[in-house]
This record gives sequence, C-alpha cells and structure tokens, in this order.
Amino acid sequence: MSAGIGWILMTNPGLIGGRDHFNDFDLDSKEFTEHYDEVIDALLDKCPVAHSKAYGGYWVVSRAEDFKKCAQDYETFTSTLGFEPSHGNEGEGAVKLYPLQIDPPYQTKWRSALGPFFSAKAVAKHEDSIREHVNFLIDGLIEQGRADFVDAFAAQLPGRVFFGSFLGVSFDELPAMQKASDDAIRGPAEGRGAAWIAVGEFLANYLNTRAGEPPRGDFVDVVLQGVPMENGEPCPFEHKMFTMVDFLAGGMGTATHTLACMAYHLATHPQDAARLRDETELRANFVDEIIRVYAPVFALGRTATRDTEIAGQPIAKGDLVMLSEGAACRDPRVAENAKEVDLDRRVPLNLAFSYGPHRCIGANVGRLEMLTALDVMLRRLPDLTLAPGTEPVYSNSGVARTMDKLEVVFTPGQREGAQA
Ligand code: HEM
Repeated sequence: MSAGIGWILMTNPGLIGGRDHFNDFDLDSKEFTEHYDEVIDALLDKCPVAHSKAYGGYWVVSRAEDFKKCAQDYETFTSTLGFEPSHGNEGEGAVKLYPLQIDPPYQTKWRSALGPFFSAKAVAKHEDSIREHVNFLIDGLIEQGRADFVDAFAAQLPGRVFFGSFLGVSFDELPAMQKASDDAIRGPAEGRGAAWIAVGEFLANYLNTRAGEPPRGDFVDVVLQGVPMENGEPCPFEHKMFTMVDFLAGGMGTATHTLACMAYHLATHPQDAARLRDETELRANFVDEIIRVYAPVFALGRTATRDTEIAGQPIAKGDLVMLSEGAACRDPRVAENAKEVDLDRRVPLNLAFSYGPHRCIGANVGRLEMLTALDVMLRRLPDLTLAPGTEPVYSNSGVARTMDKLEVVFTPGQREGAQA
C-alpha cells in the first residue's frame, strides 16, 4: 500500500472495524453490527448521507432534520417501491405491508379508519389483559433465579399481546407466526419472501374466519370492511390481508428489542430502577427514552420519484433512500447526550417511531407493553442484574437492530398463578 492511500485510510472517519461506512455502508455487515454505536456517531458527525454498494446501492440519511424532511415529503420519497435494500417482499405475488408500503391519499384512508383503535385511550383498555400476559411470563421464569430474558420474556410478550389481547385467538400458532415474522424481517434475505407468504396465509385465514362471525367492534372489523382505493373502488381482499400483516410484523421484533433493552438498562442502572420504583411519574418518559436510545428499526426505505438532493448530496430518480430512525433519534442537534437514557429528559419527538404520514400507528401499544412490563418487573424482579461475566448479544439484519440474548439473575420468587 502506498503511503498516500494509507494516510487516507487512517484519516477517513468512516473507516470503522475495517469497513468504510461512509462509502460502503451495509446494514447486514458484521462491521456495522459490531460497531453499531460508533458508526452511528460517525454518520451523524461527518456523513449525513452515506452510500452503500449492497443490493445495487442505496443511501442512508442520518440527521434528524434531513430525516424529517424526507419522511414528510412522500411525493418525492415514495414508500410504494420497497422498504429494505434486499426488496424481500417485492414482485409478483409478494406479500406486502400496508399502510407501510402505500402513499397518501390511499394510506391516509387506512390510517383514519384504524387510528381510533390505537389511540392511547383505546389501547389502555387492553392493559389488564397485557398485565396477565406479563405476569404469566414472569411466573415462568421467577422460580429459577436466572433466565435468558429475551427467550423467556421479551420475545414472547408482543406475540401474546397481538394474538391474545388484540385478536383474541389461541396461542397454538403463535410460535410458528413469531418465527415466520422474524424470518421475514431479519432472516437470510433469500428466505424473506417465503416467510412473508407464511404470515400472509395465516392472517388471510384468520380474516376469512372472522368474516363469517358477528362483528366484535375491534380493528379487525374495520380491516374487513376495508377502505376505498384512490379510484373510489373498494379495496381487494389482498390489501386487507397486507394490513393485518403490517400490524403483526410491525409490533413483534420492535417491541421484543425494546423490552429486552429496558431489562438491560434496569439490570445495569440500579439507581434508575430505584427512582422508577418511587417516582412513578417518570416511567412513561423512561420508556420513551429506552425506545429512542435503543431504536429497534435502524432504517426504513423510500424511493426517489425524481432527481433531487438531500443535504447537498444529489439523489437520482429511482434511488433507494434509507431513512435512519436509529441515527436520527440520537442526533446531538436534537438532544444533549443523546446516547444516554435520561429519566428527566422530555423527549421532544421520538424519531424511533419515524415521522410524517407513516409515523408508527402502534406506538401506544409498544409503550403500554413496556410500561406494564416495567411495573411488574420493578415489583417482582427488584434486584434484577446481569448474569456475572455476560453481556447482551445484539445482531443487525435487514432494517432491524435486535438484542438476541440477555442473561439475567435475580432472587427467585413465587409464581402468582397468572392465567393468560
Ligand atoms: C417500540 C415499538 C415500536 C417501534 C419502535 C416501531 C417503529 C415503527 C416505525 C419506525 C415505523 C415507520 C415506518 C416508516 O416510516 O416507513 C412504524 C410503522 C408502523 N408500525 Fe410500528 N413500531 C413499534 C411498535 C408497533 C406495534 C406494537 C405495532 C402494532 C400494533 C406497530 C405497527 C406499525 C404499523 C402498522 C406501521 C405502519 C404505519 C404506516 O405506514 O402508516 N408498531 N413503526
């Protein structure tokens, strides 16, 4: 290597762990997974629009202001042409996610129809049922005094809440659906299409069953009713199934990750746990801080519908632009010490839930799962701590950041006999 090239490599702040993340970023790379925080810092500091060579190339937008501008401007940055670089659910016969993969005004119709079922007030009606699931899962681990908290709790709760509290179906098919939605979002790219189809088939069957039953006054009734498309025609059955798929997939891996990260934070910050026990008014804020700092969605895509620019970087019509929630919500231009969970911080706007027309419709469900879990954990696992000599294991795949393993220890307690 010539001295000149060596000098450039040494002074390139995007070169972290052996990869140039400014010019050769890759969501699926081990260099990114292993240096996640460092890469985000470098992008935010020096490279507002990074480039990837993977899957034919894409851009990564990290700063909050640029993120918000693009997320708001759905006419220039459409959601209809894929949300991830591998385009795992594109093409003929693919199972899509609605309203994630449609633009206003059709997307707005779905949001207006379904929004009332996901307001804070509407979601609060499920709190007792969520508490039963939380206590049931804690019953399953409390006698051992040790657990992989991801396996035993965080990966179980979101599916139980969606199936049990929201759909009111038995858990027989839950493990298969959990696996399929996980494979679809973050499994090997070549298997994602098939995994989406498995999720779609299950939910299509569920919709068909419900269509033959009396209405229950829940969001599934509204999905079954559908909304008119842009041409005024009623939407086809397929769009209803795509909507169910989005609600299932949108809430599984995301909440699993944030629940696990919350447990990690409690286990490693006993002073925060103590404050949260007494100062209950801090809890909602704490939950939002965990979601912000440990954002489960690193980035979601839009496609440029015309030649444009972002932060001075020319973007060509047809380019895939990944808007990074994971980076934008830690932008130091928005919050001081943005990487730290601060119980007293009033988060101005949590970009981990995105921004603009696609801002997460399930945010209140995710928050309530976490708040309820927090309440029960502070009571039943008061001395939760990391198992000695262990650290959490994370992975990145596709658009998601996930905690895969969290070994914790605590004083064994008694089952309470929750029936969920
Ligand atoms: C901590 C938990 C969660 C986080 C951080 C999160 C994050 C996100 C993000 C970043 C988006 C934006 C997509 C975009 O801009 O393209 C989104 C959309 C969405 N989320 Fe969530 N989510 C969470 C929980 C949930 C839950 C529990 C549900 C289901 C009940 C859900 C359902 C959805 C749906 C259906 C959309 C699509 C909305 C649209 O495109 O209009 N999410 N979520």
